[in-house]
Amino acid sequence: MPPVPNAIQLTDLTRDDLVELYAYPVEPSAPYLRVNFVTSIDGAVTVDGRSGGLGTPADKKIFALLRDLADVVLVGAGTVRAEKYGAAHTDSELRKRLHAEGLGGDPDGTPPRIAVVSARAALDPASKLFTDEGARPIILTTAAASDDNKKRLIDAGAEVIVAGENLCTAQSIRAGLESLRLRRVLCEGGPSLFGELIADRGVDDLCLTVSPQLVGGSAGRIAVSPLALPTPMVPRHLLLDTDGTILTRWERAHTRG
Ligand SMILES: NC(=O)c1ccc[n+]([C@@H]2O[C@H](COP(=O)([O-])OP(=O)(O)OC[C@H]3O[C@@H](n4cnc5c(N)ncnc54)[C@H](OP(=O)(O)O)[C@@H]3O)[C@@H](O)[C@H]2O)c1
Repeated sequence: MPPVPNAIQLTDLTRDDLVELYAYPVEPSAPYLRVNFVTSIDGAVTVDGRSGGLGTPADKKIFALLRDLADVVLVGAGTVRAEKYGAAHTDSELRKRLHAEGLGGDPDGTPPRIAVVSARAALDPASKLFTDEGARPIILTTAAASDDNKKRLIDAGAEVIVAGENLCTAQSIRAGLESLRLRRVLCEGGPSLFGELIADRGVDDLCLTVSPQLVGGSAGRIAVSPLALPTPMVPRHLLLDTDGTILTRWERAHTRG
């Protein structure tokens, strides 16, 4: 078991330090699936139905950096609808540099694509996900979704991949992304998709922000699935910001030595 890392002050770190701390495995030979969430101290995943009320400057900084590092942003349809997802906007210079250094990014600085998991392919073709400049959404859906829904999304410019009969599993999602050679995967939730990934033992890495507030209310937690399946995780780092935000990174116990 590797030693538990000491806490580091975020203000002591440069952007290059952060790139190193959050780097994906070099040249991954298969999709590496990272999940990113923010929660309140008392475990709420939303305030008034959205995650925005939990965000802090440190969380926003890492949220953006994780997108800079990724080949693809994977997200459940519920989150796309609640958070009004559009195309990802990333740091084009950083993405070019990361690519030159073999750390991901993109040769032209192009942002990562958004891949939406939707059993029903029930997305609005007039939404920002399709109409934003540079949008090239991928829809991972099922054989059970109606042909009309799929056609509507293809007509709106999406690449539609059938990845499951009634539900997309972690394995079928990985296979769908691998068919496009998208291996640095950043899953931004939501709780139903994360629960499915845990149940399928499909999570390699979790970046979890604890926002320094209590929320109460009836908000759910970050993962929901019908069955509990404990998965041991190893802490990789623990960063503290001056406002009390705690940024953690956890890897699946057997993912790296
Ligand atoms: N705090 C945070 O960091 C954070 C992050 C993300 C989301 N959130 C919040 O979480 C809430 C949304 O929760 P949610 O659980 O509904 O989110 P979700 O997991 O994003 O969406 C659920 C929907 O995604 C599709 N889906 C999920 N897993 C699937 C699977 N294995 N196979 C096929 N389709 C699948 C289904 O879409 P269809 O119905 O289209 O078939 C399902 O209804 C929002 O309020 C959002 O703000 C918070």
